[in-house]
Amino acid sequence: MINYEKLLHDFPILNNKMQNHRLVYLDNAATSFKPTIVLDAIKDYYENYCANTHRGDYDIAHKADVKYDESREIIAKFLNANKNEIVFTAGTSMSINMIAYGYALQNLKADDEILITEAEHASNVLPWFSVAKEIGCTIKYIPLTKEGRLTPENVKSAMNSHTKIVAIAQVTNVLGYYVDIKTIAKIVHEFNAIIVVDGAQSVPHFKVDVKDLDCDFLSFSGHKMCGPTGIGVMYGKYQLLKEMIPLMSGGGMNARFNTCGEVTLLLPPQKFEAGTQNIEGAIGLAAAIQYLNEIGMDNIEKHETELRKYAISELKKLDNIIIYNETAESGIITFNVKNVFAQDAATYFNSKGICVRSGQHCAKILMDFLGTVATIRASLYFYNTREDIDAFIDACKKAGDFLDAYFN
Ligand code: ALA
Repeated sequence: MINYEKLLHDFPILNNKMQNHRLVYLDNAATSFKPTIVLDAIKDYYENYCANTHRGDYDIAHKADVKYDESREIIAKFLNANKNEIVFTAGTSMSINMIAYGYALQNLKADDEILITEAEHASNVLPWFSVAKEIGCTIKYIPLTKEGRLTPENVKSAMNSHTKIVAIAQVTNVLGYYVDIKTIAKIVHEFNAIIVVDGAQSVPHFKVDVKDLDCDFLSFSGHKMCGPTGIGVMYGKYQLLKEMIPLMSGGGMNARFNTCGEVTLLLPPQKFEAGTQNIEGAIGLAAAIQYLNEIGMDNIEKHETELRKYAISELKKLDNIIIYNETAESGIITFNVKNVFAQDAATYFNSKGICVRSGQHCAKILMDFLGTVATIRASLYFYNTREDIDAFIDACKKAGDFLDAYFN
């Protein structure tokens, strides 16, 4: 059960008023609010032990080392990974770029294939385009069902002996369907390929266990799960991380180097973390994960599922709304208001104190699949309420006539 009174205390931003109701924030797939406990953890670092990590021989530097390492441990436990398989990055985009350049570019040949889907976010498309161009290999799209779902059967039928990488989201950021990664990973491994999972829209919302899924890589961002911006994670199986080349070089990732250009790298995860790490980010993300753990990932998922069901049942009563992902399991609801351009509708929703995202949501190929130029996306998190949905539905009712509705 979510204790809403506690949430109002934990998230000061939830008390903001817009129009005659609380701010209704339905853009959680873009970023999430941060509880005070996360901000306090960051402030504590800067106020009380602000030192660089893995470099200083004094007490506050030791404390920074301990807290940074503890943060990695907390994240590893959250994913059921080993600590040395957790690499801190700037976010999902950086993680996938690191995998594309550090693994794909080093291991793939011209006659190899990388499989993605038309529903992927730009972060899980463009890095593969870039490396495929350099390698000369092929990008193939796994067919989606009519609804836009990715099924294990379709993955299997797209695979062949040339497939080396399958890069897919566990939950895509527009259609929001759950993808059966565990079954797909088995198929991918039968073909001796690897599976690279974009977890940006899944890890914040339900329990993800990398050992159970048997995925080879998993990436996600801290800011979508109550943590700070600028911190994310690349999980990789240790053997793969050992074989990978780091995208960035510099201090903190090497054991030694000499004038002949010979360099000995540290082991993973340190070999991927060149330069001063995002110490406040790691500490803030760990605090966010502890906070989510206290609420319980199963409670978070259950709350979002129930809220989504309620929202969809109310939206379906409205003749002026087109829903693009009615059966999705996640809290992502993608829709349009009939005869109103998505961005105009989003501006109208804003006038009612409701935050939604409009446009192509960085999933530009998907718009052709959906047969539209833009959509509106309402995305939920555990701090959303039925009252938020009621305000949203009420605004939807008047949205067809949005120019008049502005003034009512
Ligand atoms: N990836 C984020 C989104 O889908 C920004 O909105």
